[in-house]
This record gives sequence, C-alpha cells and structure tokens, in this order.
Amino acid sequence: MTSMQKVTELGTGNRSISILGSTGSVGVNTVDLIKLTPERFSVKALSANRNVSLLAKQARMLKAEIAVIADENCYADLKRELSGSRVEVAAGRKAVIEAAMRPSDWLMSAIVGTAGLEPTFRAVERGAIIGLANKECLVSAGKVMTNEIKKQGATIIPVDSEHSAIFQVFDFENVDKVNRIILTASGGPFREKSLKEMATMTPEQAIAHPNWDMGVKISIDSATMMNKGLELIEAFHLFPVGEEKIEILVHPQSVVHSLVAYVDGSVLAQMGTPDMRTPISFALGWPQRLATPAPVLDLQKIANLSFEGPDEGRFPALRLAREALRLGGNAPTVLNAANEIAVEGFLNKKISFLEITTIVENTLEKSPHCELITLSDVLDADLFARETAKTFMKN
Ligand SMILES: NC(=O)c1ccc[n+]([C@@H]2O[C@H](COP(=O)([O-])OP(=O)(O)OC[C@H]3O[C@@H](n4cnc5c(N)ncnc54)[C@H](OP(=O)(O)O)[C@@H]3O)[C@@H](O)[C@H]2O)c1
Repeated sequence: MTSMQKVTELGTGNRSISILGSTGSVGVNTVDLIKLTPERFSVKALSANRNVSLLAKQARMLKAEIAVIADENCYADLKRELSGSRVEVAAGRKAVIEAAMRPSDWLMSAIVGTAGLEPTFRAVERGAIIGLANKECLVSAGKVMTNEIKKQGATIIPVDSEHSAIFQVFDFENVDKVNRIILTASGGPFREKSLKEMATMTPEQAIAHPNWDMGVKISIDSATMMNKGLELIEAFHLFPVGEEKIEILVHPQSVVHSLVAYVDGSVLAQMGTPDMRTPISFALGWPQRLATPAPVLDLQKIANLSFEGPDEGRFPALRLAREALRLGGNAPTVLNAANEIAVEGFLNKKISFLEITTIVENTLEKSPHCELITLSDVLDADLFARETAKTFMKN
C-alpha cells in the first residue's frame, strides 16, 4: 500500500498516535495541537527521559494507553503519579523502543539526539507514518534508514521547519525539473560575532536563539551552525537530489523557511512566522491542513527580508557536514556522535564554544572510514565516535 493509500484509508476519522519525547519543545507543541481537536486523535504511547510530572500530566490529559520514562530510576515516581489512572507505566530504554513498536497510525519522533534512532527505526520497520523531528537519526543512519523506509513502505513527513517547507513545494513527480534546493538558516545568535568574540561565549549566550524557542541541544547546534550541517544531510536523504544541488542561505528573519528552484527559473518558497506549531501541524494532519494558533504572517509589518551567504570560516561545522556527506559511510555518523559529545562538554563547561567543532573535526580525522549496512553497524560506529571524541575532551 502506498503512503497516500494508507492515509486515504485513515480519512478524516480518528488517527492513533504515539509521541516519543512528548515533554520536549517539539513534544509539548505536538500535545498542545492535539488538545485543540482531541476527537481526531487517540493517543497510544507517550515517552520522556526524566520529566515524570509533565509526562504523567500529559498521559492523564490525553488518556494515553502507556507512558514510558527512559530513565529506569524514575519508574517508581511515574507509577505513583499515575496511580488510579488507566495509563500503563513502563521504564527503560527498551521500553521506549517497545512503545515505538506498538501499533499506531502515526508517530512523532521528537526525542533529541541518537537516543531517538532505534525507536524511530523500529517504527519504520512497522511501516508507520512518522513525523520526523529527530534529525540526528537520519543523519546518523542515512542510507540504512532510507533503505528500511523503502522496504517497509513507511512514510516520513519532515517536521524540521526547513524540510517541511521543501516537502510542501518539492515536485516529487518531476525530480529532474528541480534545479536546486535552498535551505535557509537564521545564522543563530552569533551570526554577527567575530571568532574572537565567539571564543568566550557561554552556554547561556549560545542557547539564546534570536527567533526560535527550542530545546538546549538544537539551540547550541544553531549557534555553531552544525544544525544547518545536520539539516543539509537530512535534506539529502529526504529529497532525491545530489548534495551539490543543496545550497545554504542565511536569512536572519526565519520567515522564508526554505525554497526549491526549478529549471524554468521558478523558485517556490514556503513562508510563515517562526513557530514550530505550523510544521508540526502539517505533519500531524498530512495530507490535510489543521488550523493552528500560530501568529499570522504580516509581511507589511516585517517590511524587509534579507539574505546572505554562509561564512564557513567562522562556522566550520557547515564545511565539516558537507565533507562528511560527500565521504558517506560512517562519516555522518561520526560527525553527529562527536557533535553530541562536544555539545554536552560545552554545556558542562568542560570545553569552550569553538572547541565544539574542533572536537568534531579531530574525531572525523581519527575515525577509519567504513561502510554501514545494518542498524547495528550504525550503533557501533556511533559508539566508537563517542569514545574517540571523549579522548579529545580529556586532552
Ligand atoms: N525544538 C525545535 O523547535 C526543533 C525544531 C526542529 C527540529 N527539532 C529536532 O527535534 C528533536 C527534539 O528537539 P527538542 O528541541 O524538542 O528537544 P528537547 O526540548 O530537549 O526535548 C527532548 C525530548 O527527548 C526526551 N529525551 C531526552 N533524552 C532522552 C533519552 N536518552 N531517551 C529518551 N528520551 C529522551 C526528553 O525528555 P525529558 O523532557 O524528560 O528530558 C524530551 O522529551 C531534536 O532532534 C531536534 O533537532 C527541534
């Protein structure tokens, strides 16, 4: 059955859904949107890492079948918070994976980082329709993931605002007529900072994104622009064009969420206020559009939209990501894993801001190239890169 047939069969009736990472920035927005039309959705599984109280509150409110907490130490607390309700309770990494395997029409993949890889992969294996917020899993598992998506007939609806924009204007029927994809980037909080200024930036300064209110990890990735590097790799796997046809363009206002240029000179863009509820609702309701409380775009008020080329000198993450994509095999896996370790190190004040990308580059240089065929190959490569990145942190 094709994706469209699957969705057509669902019609406008009740859609069963699971949300992995329901307590995070994307997860909370997803829950808020579901609350607007609860009759359209029946919630199967919700998951979090440690945030017991919010997870329990969401599970009661949405009448979820099961609430899963990844940290096993939180099991007793979750059990207590949900006592007297009909919500099943489970804990541990395996339980999160099992939650992803439970039948549901739709699944939101909104766990941050590689922790979201295996659960998302298991949902792909059961041919689910997946709202994909977790970009790290597609970066890390690349072809292993896309091969499985094809094999199982799973459907991926991107949730990243840029990829949602491209998805909305990309002509999948006439791929040969696509001239290029233009991925926009806000430039992050340090867009106008010199390298000297960036050297002393603190986690608090790096997290303060000018346009978007997001989780901590993606906010740091936006400051280094690794986020755009990860998105370049994500776009390569989501849309059938070569890496050389994906450009990055800095657009500080975050209104034009991305563009697709065609051979006849037409350039189609999707625009909107920087509000994640728009791309989340697009994925949640696809192929229909759902109303959201996102502010209406007022171009007259904004008055000016500006664009500039990216600066790979100040933001080497862009170069590293493109090189990793060109190299293929384990290189994007290593890039992603080393970045997660380095971001954590920066947040714990063990390394400086500029050392984040230095550690990623050193880890890439130190990791022997290999091809990845299975999920287990990906997880091994990820682990190896994490250990290697940690040795650079110690030095
Ligand atoms: N935020 C955005 O606007 C945005 C936009 C585009 C794409 N994305 C992507 O969406 C994903 C989620 O981002 P976010 O900003 O929503 O992150 P976030 O606010 O940090 O939330 C992450 C979620 O994952 C859970 N989690 C963390 N570590 C886990 C683990 N080891 N095992 C299981 N669950 C775990 C967290 O639970 P606790 O709450 O208990 O810690 C939380 O529910 C990321 O891949 C990001 O790149 C986000």
